[in-house]
Amino acid sequence: MKESGTEKVFYVTTPIYYVNASPHIGHAYTTVVADVMARFYRNNGYRTFFMTGTDEHGDKIAEAAKKAGITPKEYADRISAQFRALWPQLNITNDYFIRTTDENHVRTVRHILQKVYDAGDIYFGKYEGYYCVGCERFYTETELVDGKCPDHKVAPEYREESNYFFRMSRYQDWLIGYIRDNPDFIRPERYRNEVLAFLREPLEDLCISRPKSRLTWGITLPFDENYVTYVWFDALINYITGIGFPDREEFRVFWPESNHLIAKDIVKPHGIFWPTMLKAAGVGTYRHLNVHGYWNIEQSKMSKSLGNVVRPLDLKDKYGLDAFRYFLLRDMVFGLDSNFSEEALVQRLNSDLANDLGNLVSRVLSMAVRYFGEKAPGPSGTAESDRALIGRAEALPREVEAAFQELGFHKALIAIWEFINLTNKYIVEAEPWVLAKKPEGRERLGTVIYNVLEALRVIAVLIEPFMPDTAGKILAWTGAGGAGQNLDSIRKWGGLKPGAPVKRGEALFPRVEFKKEEEAPARPAFKSKPEITLDEFQKVDLRAAKIVAAEAVQGSSKLVKLRIDIGEERTIVAGIGLDYKPEDLVGKWIVVVANLKPAKLMGVESKGMLLAASAGRELSLLSFDKEPEPGGSIK
Ligand code: MSP
Repeated sequence: MKESGTEKVFYVTTPIYYVNASPHIGHAYTTVVADVMARFYRNNGYRTFFMTGTDEHGDKIAEAAKKAGITPKEYADRISAQFRALWPQLNITNDYFIRTTDENHVRTVRHILQKVYDAGDIYFGKYEGYYCVGCERFYTETELVDGKCPDHKVAPEYREESNYFFRMSRYQDWLIGYIRDNPDFIRPERYRNEVLAFLREPLEDLCISRPKSRLTWGITLPFDENYVTYVWFDALINYITGIGFPDREEFRVFWPESNHLIAKDIVKPHGIFWPTMLKAAGVGTYRHLNVHGYWNIEQSKMSKSLGNVVRPLDLKDKYGLDAFRYFLLRDMVFGLDSNFSEEALVQRLNSDLANDLGNLVSRVLSMAVRYFGEKAPGPSGTAESDRALIGRAEALPREVEAAFQELGFHKALIAIWEFINLTNKYIVEAEPWVLAKKPEGRERLGTVIYNVLEALRVIAVLIEPFMPDTAGKILAWTGAGGAGQNLDSIRKWGGLKPGAPVKRGEALFPRVEFKKEEEAPARPAFKSKPEITLDEFQKVDLRAAKIVAAEAVQGSSKLVKLRIDIGEERTIVAGIGLDYKPEDLVGKWIVVVANLKPAKLMGVESKGMLLAASAGRELSLLSFDKEPEPGGSIK
């Protein structure tokens, strides 16, 4: 990205995906990362362009179409439409969707081929060697592992044919120099090193054609009717045809600020073919090649044959879109491989989203509404204890910006979550429920509630690129909705207007139980306690309550001290420590015997008792199938 004069510019691309398979979590990851970046820069005043699309020519597609019994174009139309329809469902905000069968793309590829041919960088020659159909390329013998393609694990075909070649070797020294002079051209560094290591060997010229006798599904060479263009030479050019190369204004503005996002599987075409092609065509090269690792599924490679392909929409339907987007960005360190499991997703959902964020939002909004009705109070003065919160909030925009610049998306999220937890701690220490009981506490209560509402606004602005729906809800509920909510609006504390309309909202992230299938234990025989009358039963005052804080009672492995909202805040002690971790309890709804005589357990006074059933050897808390009112009576 650049700040030249007054205009700040950002251009981001994903690979254009092959149309021989339906979209999976790997495609979703790259595209969600691109979306997070595009949203971030767009929100922050950059003129932004975000492009994705489909790669539709070549052997692979022709073969898949043949298998399906339809023409390559029909096949490409079908799968390309699946990608195009998927992206809005993942809240992807691409500005353009390119297809390599688009007429203007085809025209421009032919124009570039002619230009490079006229400049003498394309020649006709003979080629023989080992060709892998899956990779769409020839392999040298040294590249094969046990005589097989290292990627597809199949023996390549031996082929001999006359073809056109691009004089890539001519640009080897230039490329080495360029990569050396521009340390952030290919990043992270491990992939820059990978490309430099490759360039230590003499670079061969690139075969860029296929005879029509073998393959017709491609772009015909402008200087020889009998050949089509090699699919990579065609596909890479999408990055400039999509923004109107050579003469549209968008091309001039966006190309110098281009950011390609890819995974490690296609470093070579992007790190070597593409810059040399651009150089030969007299076009400046792209700005950054950003390379991420691979998602593996339960420790193994995702593949159709293993039957472990993970579909993004299945996860969205099951866990919600924002939980899915958050998980992708939080669990992968950009550049490294990561392991996907539903269990890990559920873990993140329950702890980071339901527990930390969801709970903070519902706690703050319900206190604000309870104490001040539907209008945000105004702050009066700043106490020492407010300064830590405000100081962290004001430092965050710079930290998050820096994290984005180094592609540290997980780092940005960690910093935001530290602030979420700091806000939770601020509430515990400020004890608004105590202030609310004393008339002289009213002014301070206003300041505390203002501060936590403002903290929610800061959090919402920061999470917007990652979780746009959630951010939108929080902004609407805190009365901070509308345009102009970006980093600049949170650099200085106090942007929320006193009097802003506050709403309680609904639960953001309901908790999800993840259970691996287990054998059911044998059923115990039923035996009842002695009968009681209805009058006797009605003496028990059962109420709905929400756990707002939980901690282990010191010196006991079983007892947990719970702060509950039962229409008022109070403390109870429960013997559930062996079955529940305190941090997993926060946000849960429980049933409490509200009129049980207070009792002291390990020195902590308990004003009530929660109800739980035994579930095999464990305990299961009684809860509700709809969210009740705190203190709601149970009949
Ligand atoms: N058509 C070429 C790209 C041409 S770009 C000019 C292609 N297509 S692809 O459909 O195979 O997509 C590869 C890309 O999909 C990867 O670079 C990455 O962005 C994404 N991923 C596919 N599988 C992936 C994982 N298992 N993990 C992470 N990303 C993965 O190559």
